[in-house]
Amino acid sequence: MRTALVLLLAVACGGDDTTPTDTTTGDTGTTTDGPQTKEERILARIADGNVDIGSGQSVYSGRCRGCHGTDGQGSNQGPALTDRLADATVEEVVQVVLDGGDGMRAYRDVLTNPEIADVTAFVFDAYGPE
Ligand code: HEC
Repeated sequence: MRTALVLLLAVACGGDDTTPTDTTTGDTGTTTDGPQTKEERILARIADGNVDIGSGQSVYSGRCRGCHGTDGQGSNQGPALTDRLADATVEEVVQVVLDGGDGMRAYRDVLTNPEIADVTAFVFDAYGPE
């Protein structure tokens, strides 16, 4: 019985395969080198402001503009970002760029982490709310 309880606790607290120690390092600008998913690395860059809007604009022009329009107004191939970003989170946008959507391809293996961070920052900057 005691063994079962210990096992249960271990499972309950185990979470992912990330190291259970040192979870208090989420401060600021640290270039994290712990185990992180690609999405987490991208989100950390954005949260740290470690993005280049100009580079994001180049990525957008090269990869996204054809469907989402020169001014984010959309086309018959993709929705207007000016509409979509009004209630999308940064996480959702990174997710759709990584994994694609209904009619949009995945860029996980096409763009680098900095490129995805940059283009996400650019679309929010250029077409996001407020
Ligand atoms: C082939 C056309 C096409 C290209 C190229 C394309 N998209 Fe999309 N995109 C779409 C379509 C279609 C949707 C709607 C998908 C859905 O709702 O699941 C979409 C949805 C989105 C959304 C909305 C996500 C949300 O939460 O509502 C964002 C943001 C976005 N695309 C950004 C980009 C960026 C950034 C690029 C370039 C890296 C890009 N798209 C390239 C067609 C495209």
